[in-house]
Amino acid sequence: MAQNSLIRTQSYVNGTWVNAASGETFDVIDPATGAVIATVPDMGQADVREAIEVANAAWPAYRDLTAKERANLLRKWFSLILENKEELARLMTMECGKVLSESLGEVDYGASFIEWFAEEAKRTYGDVIPANTKDKRLVVIKQSIGVVAAITPWNFPLAMITRKVGPALAAGSPVIVKPPSETPLTALAISHLAEKAGFPPGVYNTVTTSKNAEVGLELCENNKVRKLSFTGSTAIGKLLMSQCASNLKKISLELGGNAPFIVFDDADINAAVKGAMASKFRNNGQTCVCVNRLYVHDKVYDEFVSKLSDAVAALRVGNGLDTNSQMGPLINEKGLNKVKHHLDDALSKGAKVIVGGHEMEGLFFQPTVLTDITPDMIIAREEVFGPVAPVARFTDEQEVIRLANNTPYGLASYFYSKDISRCWRVAEALDYGMVGINEGMISTEVAPFGGVKESGVGREGSKYGMDYFMEIKYLCFGGIN
Ligand code: SIN
Repeated sequence: MAQNSLIRTQSYVNGTWVNAASGETFDVIDPATGAVIATVPDMGQADVREAIEVANAAWPAYRDLTAKERANLLRKWFSLILENKEELARLMTMECGKVLSESLGEVDYGASFIEWFAEEAKRTYGDVIPANTKDKRLVVIKQSIGVVAAITPWNFPLAMITRKVGPALAAGSPVIVKPPSETPLTALAISHLAEKAGFPPGVYNTVTTSKNAEVGLELCENNKVRKLSFTGSTAIGKLLMSQCASNLKKISLELGGNAPFIVFDDADINAAVKGAMASKFRNNGQTCVCVNRLYVHDKVYDEFVSKLSDAVAALRVGNGLDTNSQMGPLINEKGLNKVKHHLDDALSKGAKVIVGGHEMEGLFFQPTVLTDITPDMIIAREEVFGPVAPVARFTDEQEVIRLANNTPYGLASYFYSKDISRCWRVAEALDYGMVGINEGMISTEVAPFGGVKESGVGREGSKYGMDYFMEIKYLCFGGIN
């Protein structure tokens, strides 16, 4: 087993560390080396049902804490996460492959949601509504929704948990976290820190499993789970939504994207290259908001491609634990095959490789720039989720907006221009939940994260994030003299 003081090899349910009832386990693999880091319980339907029972039993006492008491628990957890930043980041890099500097950044990013929602806990105000008759008083209060299940992805092993459970715990809801089988160790490490922070037994639960279908179905169909929040692919999001329909469970979905990145002829080209690099190669191209396709105006195309290619060629690829590395491996064989498939398809349809284009040892792939991209290529239509930057040429603003919007997805989009009128016009015309204008890094706890169309339902983070974990209750006081 790898050395890290935060490694826990049991699931966390009802304030205790437990194995699967079946005794089954699965291995957690380091994508950079293929080595087994640790072995954790492979929990099944009966185990997760038990976790739902204890969470539901913990709900009344937890929701009855004052908002300040819940906020204090969150603040304690936030501090413990930051106190353990280095060790958490190393663990994260080991299991998901992202480079250490990005893992350190993710610990800060993930912790920021806990801090934010600890503050928001005290501001879940209701309303007093002017009554429609003299003898009534109308009031709106907000209450915790009940047990929340969080199904989280491997690309942000910490932040996608805290972005979901932060508001749930702040609002008074117990949580069940189901981390992905690729990255359960960071999830267990922060469960250990939640235990140290003092959350009452049953309020914070983490169930490790490789049996996604079985456990996911129970979380969706069990009516004691009152809210499901999922980050992952659009295909799985649709499946979970259909399963939640059986009891009309409230659901938030943060799904796939196909982010366009447009460079107009009046853009600051150096800034655009910097933004493209930050967004495209963040976590090795494996985020839902990574640039997926670049459209560059004909007049600045050659300059942009040349500067982007120089920056990409200079990227250092290697084990994320090596502080010299700027890009790690892909998460697994499936991810690597997807990148190769998109690349082969593009090349067969006329794309040209300017930089990279080859797989390296193991799960590593060269950062790549492709040009001469056309809309019929898979890479222009679907998320590549890897370090390939496909560039297409355009000449007309209306045409590039049409191309950018011509997708079922609508998560993040980006464009660069120095013309303020164009900035407003294009920002309003892009059919996306988020738009980066002269900016490639848009994620923060203070702004609403989420998509339109098939990129999701709901928003996470920000002042809007709490409402998705609360129910509005209307109180009508009659007989007032
Ligand atoms: C994601 O890729 O799902 C999240 C990215 C982010 O929060 O910036």
